[in-house]
Amino acid sequence: MERRSLGRLARPAIILALIFLGTACASHAPQDYLHHLAGSEARSASRLFTPVFWIAAFVFFFVEGLVVFAAVKFRDRPGREEPKQIHGNSALELTWTAIPALILAVVAVPTVLTIFSVAAKPGPNQVKIHVVGHQWWWEYQYVGTNPEVITANELVLPVNKPAYFTLDSVDVIHSFWVPKLSGKQDVVPGRTNTLEFTPFETGEYYGQCTEYCSLSHANMRLRVIVKTQADFDAWLQQQQAPAAQPTTTQAQQGQQIFMSNICITCHTIAGTQASGQVGPNLTHFASRGTFAGSMFDNTPANVDAWIHQTSLLKPGVIMPRFGCGETNYQPPAGFHCISDADIQSIVAYLESLK
Ligand code: CUA
Repeated sequence: MERRSLGRLARPAIILALIFLGTACASHAPQDYLHHLAGSEARSASRLFTPVFWIAAFVFFFVEGLVVFAAVKFRDRPGREEPKQIHGNSALELTWTAIPALILAVVAVPTVLTIFSVAAKPGPNQVKIHVVGHQWWWEYQYVGTNPEVITANELVLPVNKPAYFTLDSVDVIHSFWVPKLSGKQDVVPGRTNTLEFTPFETGEYYGQCTEYCSLSHANMRLRVIVKTQADFDAWLQQQQAPAAQPTTTQAQQGQQIFMSNICITCHTIAGTQASGQVGPNLTHFASRGTFAGSMFDNTPANVDAWIHQTSLLKPGVIMPRFGCGETNYQPPAGFHCISDADIQSIVAYLESLK
């Protein structure tokens, strides 16, 4: 009887072990914060995490081992008398109070040192960026640039240079996290939080909003693109240029349709009458590899699908669906849908905004 119940336990235990093994193998996952870290803050956190993890693991197995040992050794058996009942053993109680206190005191030293070392300090020679959380995308304002560079979702940084962030939100609480580069920082409306880290390697890093912020929380992604200083300078210069003028007929038509529609009340394209502040700044939209909270690759087909059916692709999104002729779809009051051909022209225009 006992043996059979053990067998029944074995199967879920094996499945659980396989799941743990499977997740352990996924160390090349883009948001794995344990391996291949490339930012100062992420590395500091990891240097703290590793020893604390092993201390905790030791305590866990030591205490659980004693519990299992006592449960097996002193288990009830037929004919056994009730063991002698005791209460209170000052020496033992003092010992098991003092040892955890000592362990916590030891762990507190590197913890407090790390808290101070990762605290954001404004100073010279930093790239300063103001991050604004929106439902559900990220806005980045490069502080001190003139004309000011404002972009969305893809954060571009120079390698080996400290980046200093101030963060706040226009709607609800979000949290900014790029696992391979930094720790998490809450993005709170009405309050400015700060964050600082130095990226040590060029490349592309994935991030994610980590504070539940309603429907499309899971779709509030981001990328950090770390470039060499020269490439970063070139990028910044290109972002400061006014929006490109469309050259093809289709893109020119797209510009006209864009400018005569509701698009301009939400989006800014520098140097045009589009100056809305609700949605992402599109001045250099085509220079970004992804859009809509870094959900989609920035390809004409994806942008076309997006303008047609925003809310089908990203639940809760503020931008209405502009596609005509979709079944059971009534556009919100005050605006009308845009024909397929006109959307294609808008896409041609947006994709010309390098
Ligand atoms: Cu923003 Cu979750």
